[in-house]
Amino acid sequence: MTKKKVFVAGGAGFIGSNFIRYLLEKHGEASVLNFDKLTYSGNLDNLKDLKNNSRYSFVTGDVGDRDAVEGAIKKFNPDFVINFAAETHVDRSIHVGAKEFIDTNITGVFNILEAVRVRPKIKKYVQVSTDEVYGSLTLGSKKKFSEDTPFAPNVPYAATKASGDMLCRAYHHTFGVPVVVTHCSNNYGPYQYPEKLIPFFVFRIMQGESLPIYGDGKNVRDWIYVIDHCEALRLCLFKGASGETYNIGADNELSNIEIAELIAEHFNQKLETRCKFVTDRPGHDRRYAIDASKIKRDLGWRPRYDFPRAFGETIDWYVNNKAWTEKVRKKTDAFNPHIDFRQAHPTLKK
Ligand SMILES: NC(=O)c1ccc[n+]([C@@H]2O[C@H](COP(=O)([O-])OP(=O)(O)OC[C@H]3O[C@@H](n4cnc5c(N)ncnc54)[C@H](O)[C@@H]3O)[C@@H](O)[C@H]2O)c1
Repeated sequence: MTKKKVFVAGGAGFIGSNFIRYLLEKHGEASVLNFDKLTYSGNLDNLKDLKNNSRYSFVTGDVGDRDAVEGAIKKFNPDFVINFAAETHVDRSIHVGAKEFIDTNITGVFNILEAVRVRPKIKKYVQVSTDEVYGSLTLGSKKKFSEDTPFAPNVPYAATKASGDMLCRAYHHTFGVPVVVTHCSNNYGPYQYPEKLIPFFVFRIMQGESLPIYGDGKNVRDWIYVIDHCEALRLCLFKGASGETYNIGADNELSNIEIAELIAEHFNQKLETRCKFVTDRPGHDRRYAIDASKIKRDLGWRPRYDFPRAFGETIDWYVNNKAWTEKVRKKTDAFNPHIDFRQAHPTLKK
């Protein structure tokens, strides 16, 4: 089998680490260089099990640093490139500021495109993006995001991701860079940094703390198990058509309050005794939903994980992997410190 050298940017985070493990398991002929800045959400413990794997190596590096990207790609000489490196937390892009989002999610993509542009050996570059670039759908409507839906980012995070995607489009059109952009919905699974909804709630409920729900709790996201996303990315990397975009989702819409309810139930607790409505996030998109028919039709992808089972196993993973959770908890004083628990939503009684 032809050897596959895969340069992975941002592989120490949630999806990147799951992807590297999945790829190496699935492809005995693949080797990976993980290039990651190790920001607050990057965690080498996510890949501890690969420490002695001769097909895996790691280098600390910043995609925002053009020389570092060029140097690492030149030295590794990959056949494929995939980019997970990003500032990913919407709330931070609002409450901490968007500068790092611009440096990583826009300049970082530019630097990778420049390095790929001058290397015809590279067969494919997959830019991992998000459904949030499409903006918001109406609650209760049947509409979903397709690849033709115009971009309408509503928060700084989404705007920077959309900008990176646009650069990819232009570099394909102008220079013929073999790039594929993917737009996936919300992921759940092991190794996610606990500022994000599901591990955030699981961490809090394990500590006996309340579950803060933004606004009326009815904002809907389309949840997909992380390994289903990884399989879609693997197909895009090896079979995706250059210049194309693919939407990835598992037709699994749930509101934040439904997620909170499922987590409370898992711990045999009543949501009423646990949840606390807090002031909504500014610019909070109401609903996301993905039409994944293109990737199903063109690449033969199907989501394989059953939601109730994979969701339950995800919660159990956080409960049972105490060494991981405790170390992550010790890294910071508080997750999502911007949430103001005193300002419960004024119009809601629960
Ligand atoms: N988590 C989701 O639900 C979801 C859904 C759709 C798309 N995405 C996209 O998937 C990608 C990965 O998301 P995630 O949830 O794994 O994020 P994450 O925050 O868990 O991981 C991001 C990783 O990127 C690294 N990184 C950040 N800035 C960097 C830089 N300048 N140079 C090199 N490395 C850097 C971090 O150290 C970390 O390891 C992102 O591009 C995100 O937009 C995520």
